[in-house]
Amino acid sequence: MDFDLVLRSRHSVRLFSEKPVTRDVLRKIVQDAQRAPSWVNAQEWRVYMATGTTLANIRAEYMALAEKGEKGEGDYPMAHRDEWSKEANERMAGFMNLIASENLGPTMQQVQDLLFNAPAVAWLTLPKGASRWAVLDLGAFEQSMLLSATNRGLGSIPAYNLAKHPAVLRKFLGVPETEDIVLGIALGYESEDQINKIRTIRELTDRVVTFKD
Ligand SMILES: Cc1cc2nc3c(=O)[nH]c(=O)nc-3n(C[C@H](O)[C@H](O)[C@H](O)COP(=O)(O)O)c2cc1C
Repeated sequence: MDFDLVLRSRHSVRLFSEKPVTRDVLRKIVQDAQRAPSWVNAQEWRVYMATGTTLANIRAEYMALAEKGEKGEGDYPMAHRDEWSKEANERMAGFMNLIASENLGPTMQQVQDLLFNAPAVAWLTLPKGASRWAVLDLGAFEQSMLLSATNRGLGSIPAYNLAKHPAVLRKFLGVPETEDIVLGIALGYESEDQINKIRTIRELTDRVVTFKD
């Protein structure tokens, strides 16, 4: 696919169709992401990919915990609003308003508990106590996975909510205590649902970049 099209058509997919994804495609997405740069080529990222029965078991436990009202807490905890600038808070409020204006609030909660009905979820980990540079590297790895998925005709979403019950994930995925589960990425084919029609906007580029000649 044309790079510009890949970059511009990627968006977060929050409800996937039942169509399964082959292991071969999932492996290629990880292999593509391995092209990401890292600090002195450290490549500390690891991926735990769940499909089939393993993912069904994880989903069942996430849904049971949601029913009990358990919020969970990721190894990388949810960032508090105070940790973000006033401008970032305004942009987050803009996103929440968009969801509210489309009446998608309740659906948003339901789809998260369902793990977005994804046929595959990749959980990305780093060694406990990893350098902040390794987190930066993992971000590059994450984005490379998302773009590779788009290029291969798949939808995706990176989500804190997928990683909010690390004990459940450790049980079914065998992630050792020496690794932090940072983020989940749901992968699959996009459903026609209204929730997937959401498109976010970006800040004006001239507010992001400072040129000095
Ligand atoms: C680190 C990270 C965590 C995220 N966690 C969630 C999440 O838990 N639930 C969710 O619905 N979206 C989550 N998102 C998706 C963002 O809401 C989304 O990327 C953002 O609104 C921009 O929209 P776009 O991905 O469609 O371009 C997350 C994104 C990132 C990068």
